[in-house]
Amino acid sequence: MKKKWWQESVIYQVYPRSFQDSDGDGIGDLQGIISRLDYLQNLGIDAIWLSPVYKSPNDDNGYDISDYEDIMDEFGTMADMDELIQKAKEKNIKIIMDLVLNHTSDEHAWFIEAKKGKDNAYRDYYIWRDPVDGEVPNDLKSTFSGSAWQYDEDSKQYFLHLFSKKQPDLNWENPKVREAIHSMINFWIDKGVGGFRLDVIDLIGKMPDQKIKENGPKLHEYLHDMNQATFGRGDLVTVGETWGATPEIAKLYSDPKRDELSMVFQFEHISLDQEDGKEKWDLKPLAISDLKRVLSKWQVSLGDEGWNSLFWNNHDVPRIVSRWGNDQELRVESAKAFAILLHLMKGTPYIYQGEEIGMTNCPVTSIDEVEDIEAVNMYHERIEAGYSPAEIIASINAKGRDNARTPMQWDETANGGFTTGTPWLHVNPNYRTINVADSLADSNSIFYTYKKLIALRKAHPIIVWGDYELLTNTADEVFAYTRHYQGEKWLVVVNLSDKEQSFELTENVHEIVIQNKQDKEYQNGQIILEPFEAFAAIIEN
Ligand code: GLC
Repeated sequence: MKKKWWQESVIYQVYPRSFQDSDGDGIGDLQGIISRLDYLQNLGIDAIWLSPVYKSPNDDNGYDISDYEDIMDEFGTMADMDELIQKAKEKNIKIIMDLVLNHTSDEHAWFIEAKKGKDNAYRDYYIWRDPVDGEVPNDLKSTFSGSAWQYDEDSKQYFLHLFSKKQPDLNWENPKVREAIHSMINFWIDKGVGGFRLDVIDLIGKMPDQKIKENGPKLHEYLHDMNQATFGRGDLVTVGETWGATPEIAKLYSDPKRDELSMVFQFEHISLDQEDGKEKWDLKPLAISDLKRVLSKWQVSLGDEGWNSLFWNNHDVPRIVSRWGNDQELRVESAKAFAILLHLMKGTPYIYQGEEIGMTNCPVTSIDEVEDIEAVNMYHERIEAGYSPAEIIASINAKGRDNARTPMQWDETANGGFTTGTPWLHVNPNYRTINVADSLADSNSIFYTYKKLIALRKAHPIIVWGDYELLTNTADEVFAYTRHYQGEKWLVVVNLSDKEQSFELTENVHEIVIQNKQDKEYQNGQIILEPFEAFAAIIEN
């Protein structure tokens, strides 16, 4: 495999709405991000994945785009965007744009035209069907609750929306749609961006009449053509959000020989606390054995035929330290443990804003405090289905997307230094003790564990390229693995429980490269691991 820059990189995701407000309107913006580039450079990341900043009515916080070639009013102007790309470049940070290609906003000019009638030139940019027996065409469901079909009174037809009814699905069968999208992608490449994250890209080959959503028959043809018409001409990174990908499917996307995408961003490990065959809101406890099995499968099965992302967090999932760690008395230990476990694996790591300081979930007590459309719609659907409000709020507190979207906690001033105005979403009250300023001042903070992990990746090719092997003769709660590369061997040991565990260290430690129990020494023999203890060692050869 020819080595690529993005295989050796660490990517930081910014959710602009919640990162840094510069003008006091309570909403994060591009100038706010620019003002924090020094901080990101200090952390050591190579690229920023920017959640959507395009013009949008914000039904789904920018994932409903009304103009792909313009900037959301609240975020600033195209001049701000150019400035961000330029200033980031000066710090060797690339900007990765979030491409939402499965759907637009219903306020996009294409949809406004399409709605004008069956003869409109843009009608076929979207997916319209006649009623069947006076009802919806079929029982396809929207991810945001209810039917995926919305009736249009004027034309007496339904249009498809796999997300909200303000996010009509584009018709990828139409070559004009594909060309328009390609030209838009080229617009951004010409601006000098470093790559793209492709939102729910597994859906663009859908066949609604057959009720096929993911992995439709033409999906890979569309992606190959897109690659050839756009990003394939440059050294850009592309990461596909592919919820249900298996390793075999991941190879279709990311085998370099196929000229589609650089890597997948798949969710198998992060869905392991969901009841089988049910919705994300239906929880079951995580079995560490499942986590070991799934992460290890992805470590070994791609070989030279694909590339994977490494992540615990993004703007759609709850905070890992609250979810599978301990966000109370073991917050620092568990946050570091999860970081060490993931960042010494093979793949491109992603850090979601605030993860590097151990930001936590932010529980609510009533649906009035919830902003996220997914949770709000689900709440109403489940109330109608007879669930109690308390039950639903418990699911939202465990899995709701607002958990990850509360404003970034910069310091202990009002609103955590995020805004001088009224924040669009409540700031987690723990900002007084969990914030960037304190993290930077404490050489033992979670921040410096992340910084060190990034630096280690740059200094040691074994982290990027080494073979991976899971150690199977350990306690269930101990996740231990080795990496091997050109005669070198590393051992990573993480206790993923809040109890002591014993671990048999069978080899001689040459050097401890990182640990979350300061100054603890590790020698051959039986070790008692404290709750969430983690270390990585170079093994003597
Ligand atoms: C992706 C995004 C999510 C959005 C959805 C629809 O899953 O990450 O935030 O709501 O697609 O665009």
